[in-house]
Amino acid sequence: MEIFDIKNKIKESNQITVLTGAGISQESGIPTFRGKDGLWKNFKAEDLATPDAFSKNPKLVWEWYEMRREICQKANPNPAHYKLSEWESLHKNIYIITQNVDNLHKKAGSKNIIELHGNIFSVRCTMCNFKDNYVPYPLKEIPPLCPKCNSLLRPNVVWFGEYYNPKILEESKNILSSSDLVVIIGTSGNVSVPVYLALDVIHRGVFSIEINPEESSITQHVNVYIKGKAGEIVPKLFDSSN
Ligand code: OAD
Ligand code: ZN
Repeated sequence: MEIFDIKNKIKESNQITVLTGAGISQESGIPTFRGKDGLWKNFKAEDLATPDAFSKNPKLVWEWYEMRREICQKANPNPAHYKLSEWESLHKNIYIITQNVDNLHKKAGSKNIIELHGNIFSVRCTMCNFKDNYVPYPLKEIPPLCPKCNSLLRPNVVWFGEYYNPKILEESKNILSSSDLVVIIGTSGNVSVPVYLALDVIHRGVFSIEINPEESSITQHVNVYIKGKAGEIVPKLFDSSN
């Protein structure tokens, strides 16, 4: 398919769902999980983003989050985030389902966003129902404690081995089932729920486009694979001019 045809496909869609992963924020300076900068003090995300790691060493896990919270707070959206947000304000027919916790889609101005894995600036209590959706970097203490009951606070994100919020999953499935185009950007396809969401919609015959400089576990299933960086490709494809 030529770029002209892909642009038309996007322009003519009634409803677009964009599934994003860490790769869309790589050009904003946020390291991907499985890329070369993915390690911290020799730990992988899978060693730290777990309930087990947190119960063994909450301070260590919070130090890792605080390092990431600082990066996310200082990062700016790149042309890919901005173009998707602009498309939403112009056409109102686009939804973003992201695996990212970095807040950059919101910062770029997108409104229709589902954060499958939560948001890195949101915290919740491990004991009571206290929750705060925006606690900016830096924390006053590490690990932070609940202002209501003094128990440990934790990042309000989904860790490996944890259940997804069923309401959020339901909403994601509904959005995908009413979409006639899916665009998958910057995910390696290593985490089962997002891969399931993507493959389910693809196998139902919905037209699919993937943007990634490297092939992923989803690449062989999509209709169109575009090898390249999100910040360069997204603005070229989401172009409503003629
Ligand atoms: P990964 O780090 O596994 O994959 C990042 C993907 O982005 C790779 O396929 C890269 O090729 C691609 N990429 C790199 N630079 C890019 C660019 N400039 N433009 C477009 N793509 C680029 O990240 P995810 O697939 O998002 O989960 O990882 C999924 C989940 O695993 C995360 O949400 C997190 C993580 O551990 C939890 O914490 C539960
Ligand atoms: Zn509490």
